[in-house]
Amino acid sequence: MTFAGQIWEFLECLLNWPTKIGFILRATVYSKVLKKAPLSFSRRTIIKWYRNIRITDPGKMEVGAGTSIERGNLFMSEGGITIGRDVLLAPYCKLITHQHTFREPDKSIYDQEMEYGPIVIEDGAWIGAGAIVLPGIRIGKGAIVGAGSVVIRNVPALEIWAGNPAKKIRDREASRQSCLP
Ligand SMILES: CC(C)(COP(=O)(O)OP(=O)(O)OC[C@H]1O[C@@H](n2cnc3c(N)ncnc32)[C@H](O)[C@@H]1OP(=O)(O)O)[C@@H](O)C(=O)NCCC(=O)NCCS
Repeated sequence: MTFAGQIWEFLECLLNWPTKIGFILRATVYSKVLKKAPLSFSRRTIIKWYRNIRITDPGKMEVGAGTSIERGNLFMSEGGITIGRDVLLAPYCKLITHQHTFREPDKSIYDQEMEYGPIVIEDGAWIGAGAIVLPGIRIGKGAIVGAGSVVIRNVPALEIWAGNPAKKIRDREASRQSCLP
């Protein structure tokens, strides 16, 4: 890990401060170190950063206004993570943007190249607790991912997916006209 990476890990520990002071501290620090995370303290547009969040490469992550990121989320963001406005990330989700390649069976996986795929979560989506989102996945506007799901395919807008691997359960039909712009 680079020296800057080590400093960032140390800083992340300090960001776990409880109470409202912690919210203000996190909102302020993340707005400075992320690629994009607008700073606001208005009830509607504040990005709600809860405790014990881990972001491996903050410079490659952006988050839109009004999004809520619950405790324990892990963002392995080396491949780039874009989270839209008003997204809900329930506790302990994992967004992973890289993986080892394993094309050469005679070589250890550790020694083979890494590959990266950006994750995009569009406006108004809700990711249930403990879901895992793999590299290169796009979750569409207003889509829902069930708790504990492993998302290995793109989830289209306004659809509900769940399970391991996540599959479509149904559409959010009743919400098609009312929920999103
Ligand atoms: C995805 C979710 C919203 C679906 O709710 P729902 O539409 O009421 O779904 P239902 O309970 O009617 O289930 C529909 C089907 O999907 C399956 N299903 C629902 N949630 C699932 C999940 N998380 N994982 C796997 N399968 C799931 C059900 O077993 C059911 O399958 P069946 O038709 O074969 O019996 C809900 O189950 C869920 O996971 N919510 C997330 C809760 C959470 O993370 N809260 C944190 C607060 S921020």
